Amino acid sequence: MRIGVIGYGYWGPNIVRNFHSQENCEVTLVADRDATCEARLKKMYPSFAFTRDESEVVRSPEIDVVAVVTPVWTHYELTKQALLNGKHVFVEKPFTCNVAQAEELIELADKRSLKIMVDHTFLFTGAVKKIRELVDEKELGNLYYYDSLRVNLGLFQHDVNVIWDLAPHDLSIMDYIIGEKPEAVVATGESHLNGVEDVAFITVYFPNKIIAHINVNWLSPVKVRTTLIGGEKKMLVWNDLEADEKIKIYDKGVSMAAHPSNLHQLLVSYRSGDMHAPQVKQVEALRAETTYFLQCIRENKTPFNDGVAGLRVVRILQAADKSIRHRGEAVELWTNSYALPRQ
Ligand SMILES: NC(=O)c1ccc[n+]([C@@H]2O[C@H](COP(=O)([O-])OP(=O)(O)OC[C@H]3O[C@@H](n4cnc5c(N)ncnc54)[C@H](O)[C@@H]3O)[C@@H](O)[C@H]2O)c1
Repeated sequence: MRIGVIGYGYWGPNIVRNFHSQENCEVTLVADRDATCEARLKKMYPSFAFTRDESEVVRSPEIDVVAVVTPVWTHYELTKQALLNGKHVFVEKPFTCNVAQAEELIELADKRSLKIMVDHTFLFTGAVKKIRELVDEKELGNLYYYDSLRVNLGLFQHDVNVIWDLAPHDLSIMDYIIGEKPEAVVATGESHLNGVEDVAFITVYFPNKIIAHINVNWLSPVKVRTTLIGGEKKMLVWNDLEADEKIKIYDKGVSMAAHPSNLHQLLVSYRSGDMHAPQVKQVEALRAETTYFLQCIRENKTPFNDGVAGLRVVRILQAADKSIRHRGEAVELWTNSYALPRQ
């Protein structure tokens, strides 16, 4: 499999390294409009070809797969050109700038029998795989809530707000774990420095009273990556900054029953049992993800993090932007064309 990579900024080198390390796979050409990227590339991989013209990558007959690792506003056009030239596409999160662009690319790939994979890297981490396993096995019972805190100081982006920068991670994880069709989004946020929101709070409503909340912030003095998932049987805390024991499962819960002699009075009982920290596989997520993508292409399988999964995330991002503009008004997400992640 021959790979062309467009974008060699911060994240591009990770994509190049991971595709390069795969068996029967070579990185044929790397493009970046910034000429200084060539020296960085050649230092690591002296024999790799470099160009400042990205159209050479999308047009090259020597390339089977194009990886788009550029800012979000370029994803649609580069992915479209790659698909029109018969390439499979590995594209960074967030997939596109809006729902219409994502839908068009999905249709184009379908028509040409090409694969799109959206880089929702966290779905390939040992922690997220373990959480999904626990939820599928009903270890937590029916879910009540998903609550995630992803905050740090910077890195300020100029083309997107903090939601489009950080929340795709949480939204893709939430989508993968909850596996339900979200109903509505409420979001609030504020911009303090460069005209785009740097602090934001998103709430997503699901059927069966499952509620998700995501707090993203570029203005936090400390870095926090913590997610709480509560179920009727157990509750889970995932601290991604922990080296060991990233996931802790608490056998805690609350139940209510009517008082035997006074039906108007509720008896509340709290359960507080043991905590255990399950083993989490230490894997490089991007390596697992690139291996999986190549396998999907070879075996003609649809990746679970395909364009449709990317669209589900973009739909919520777009709704969150709309809700922020209306100071937290609820935006309904209902759509016929929704494919559930568990399908
Ligand atoms: N999956 C993850 O965990 C993860 C982490 C970081 C970034 N990302 C995503 O990766 C993408 C890139 O982010 P980054 O942090 O590397 O940005 P960056 O600004 O550091 O790098 C982007 C590079 O793309 C180049 N570029 C821009 N337009 C181009 C074009 N049309 N043709 C060729 N080169 C072009 C720029 O010169 C720059 O070198 C974003 O979509 C971002 O959301 C994903």
